[in-house]
Amino acid sequence: MKILGIETSCDETSVSVVEDGRVLHSNVVLSQIDIHKQYGGVVPEVAARSHLEAMMPVVDQALTQANCNWTDIDGIAVTYGAGLSGSLLIGVMSARILAIIKDKPLYACNHVEGHVYANLLTDSKGNDSLALPTSAPEFPLLALIVSGGHSQLVYFREHFDYTLLGVTLDDAIGEAFDKVAKILGLPYPGGPSVSKAALDGDPAAYKLPIARVEGEYDFSFSGLKTATLRLGQKLAGSDHTLPSFEVADKLTEQQIADVAASFQYTAVKTVVDKTIKAFEQFQPKSVVIAGGVAASQELRRQLSERLPINIEYAPPSLCTDNGAMIACLGCYHAMLGRDPVDPYTLDVDPSLRM
Ligand code: KG4
Ligand code: ZN
Repeated sequence: MKILGIETSCDETSVSVVEDGRVLHSNVVLSQIDIHKQYGGVVPEVAARSHLEAMMPVVDQALTQANCNWTDIDGIAVTYGAGLSGSLLIGVMSARILAIIKDKPLYACNHVEGHVYANLLTDSKGNDSLALPTSAPEFPLLALIVSGGHSQLVYFREHFDYTLLGVTLDDAIGEAFDKVAKILGLPYPGGPSVSKAALDGDPAAYKLPIARVEGEYDFSFSGLKTATLRLGQKLAGSDHTLPSFEVADKLTEQQIADVAASFQYTAVKTVVDKTIKAFEQFQPKSVVIAGGVAASQELRRQLSERLPINIEYAPPSLCTDNGAMIACLGCYHAMLGRDPVDPYTLDVDPSLRM
């Protein structure tokens, strides 16, 4: 069962071919980061136009890399939410047209669920440069989903049978990384640049607060972001009236590294604390981390240090947005007999939830 997966929810045009929810035949990712970098974040209209230009060449490349033609493909999976509406629309319209003209079943995938399924890919078809986990996680599994748009803990009893344990009440953790990067004058996207700056910093240099929230497994990051801004303003020799975009110029490189390391340590500890707590309560067989922030080495370090079970991580390139996770999730839709959607009517759902 080979599924072609299409992902365009934000600023990556990505198409992949996955077999049986396990074998990764191709994963082409065209990132728009260089286009959006100059604006310090994703510009939705520019993202949609770029997806439109890239879509068909990326589809062709994914098929070529997989050594496939359309007769080998059993179905098409596409992200229909959550994400930027214009970006989603290009992926969904492309998938609808392809499903109609190639006469393939169409599976509508939830982007956030998709992130979890990146962890189920275990065979890279001899591509040794991609270090996939050697075995798939087992159910029941606990998933920590941490991206630019989401921070949540989900308990999966089985495929498509899950309970949302907690969500962020304000900013997502990736969003906090991106905003702190801006304050520190570090380039977009903030996660990798904060991590890089933190390598030269001391995570214990400054004590930042971990938000206390009512829901046992809920998160909050806006207080941490504000506390980091106040710390920057104080180190800059000023008070809260100093505009955030003037902070970085007044800090030394060492101060920037120390603030980055202290912020990163605290943000990661916030999600790891709750993951450990959920692990102890629900006793899952496996734990997976998913979403762009799952690429964080600090997250992997803290989690491995504190979890009593061994955990295999997906390669960072499968943590950020990619078509492989959608193709993989699409395989499970198809293999478990879930109904395909109508290619004439599928709509986008920008605020789709799990
Ligand atoms: O999953 P993703 O590619 O897009 C969304 O669905 O949001 O996640 C993007 C987020 C961004 O906020 C980015 O700063 C963060 O993931 N990110 C990281 C790292 N790589 C990407 N955060 C921390 N450490 C990283 N190495
Ligand atoms: Zn994502």
